[in-house]
Amino acid sequence: MSDIHRASTTAPVNIAVIKYWGKRDPKLNLPTNSSLSVTLSQSDLRTHTTASCSASYSKEDSLLLNGAPQDVSGARTQACFRELRALRSQLEDSDASLPKLAALPLKIVSENNFPTAAGLASSAAGFAALVRAIANLYKLPSSPTDLSRIARQGSGSACRSLFGGYVGWEQGSASDGSDSVAFQVAPASHWPSMRAVILVVSAAKKGVSSTTGMQTTVATSTLFASRASETVPRRMQEMQNAIQNKDFETFGKVTMMDSNSFHATCLDTYPPIFYLNDVSRAAIKVVESINAAAGRIIAAYTFDAGPNAVVYYLEENEKEVAGLFKTLLGEKDGWKGERGEKIEGNFAAAEKVKEEA
Ligand code: DP6
Repeated sequence: MSDIHRASTTAPVNIAVIKYWGKRDPKLNLPTNSSLSVTLSQSDLRTHTTASCSASYSKEDSLLLNGAPQDVSGARTQACFRELRALRSQLEDSDASLPKLAALPLKIVSENNFPTAAGLASSAAGFAALVRAIANLYKLPSSPTDLSRIARQGSGSACRSLFGGYVGWEQGSASDGSDSVAFQVAPASHWPSMRAVILVVSAAKKGVSSTTGMQTTVATSTLFASRASETVPRRMQEMQNAIQNKDFETFGKVTMMDSNSFHATCLDTYPPIFYLNDVSRAAIKVVESINAAAGRIIAAYTFDAGPNAVVYYLEENEKEVAGLFKTLLGEKDGWKGERGEKIEGNFAAAEKVKEEA
């Protein structure tokens, strides 16, 4: 009976406040602009992944997601496997006493505690967890930055889930993608009162995948060029300053404007891409009314490639923001049937990445 080598990890979802949308190199998954996100805590939305390898396994690599077998032959997954195996091989070449794991078939088992591919950044947590689980299995000395370079090739947004707290992804300029990596803007502890309420408008799979959508946007939108070259670089700076200064007004305003800008380029895509629906727009109205009542920005919405709203707010405004949404969601009128469930995010523990290697 051959040994089974095994390691597990979890990676949380991250929700961008400056959106990644557009690839300058689809093969290496290099973006047309930098982006910035907040990583949720492990206790909220996350993927748990166990990676194992053994000579006793059938020859092919395999991946189970929430119990269902997934295709691992795609270029993205293959790129991650290849890079991680190459690093393990280097270790094995330099130390003959190490077991030869790089040559063994991999078995990956992942569980999400949230709907897959519903605009809830499932690929982000998924590839981040996959890459780190294999890196742990192979006992690689890689840093989170190194792992972010690999996870990026699985799914762009995944590179940001390798760090906790407030995380940027530098678009980079190198043609081999070596400088297109994630970096921590600030740990969650820097601004621990940040909260998010996630309104699951629809748990269904999204209509147009991010990959397809962004390729069509780059090819057809006339708004896209100025977003990538002018708007986003300016906002990246404003957002980093807002986080450093714990300035929620600016954080919130830039978050909402960037979500609107991203969805405007989707509408400007031909044929147009609609990720928001009537419930999404109702959520925007509610946020606007919360801010109008407060006389300042205390709530900020953002939407990824789907209709679900993420609303950021500070703990001190829990009642006015999450409380109001809960009251509204409890009423049948206005949110009938379609509203789904709601989940609250707590970032305070985002830092602590649970390792069970
Ligand atoms: C709207 O990371 O899913 O959520 O690199 O093609 O896998 P691929 O795309 P993906 O795109 C995420 C797009 C977004 C914005 C963001 O998270 O920055």
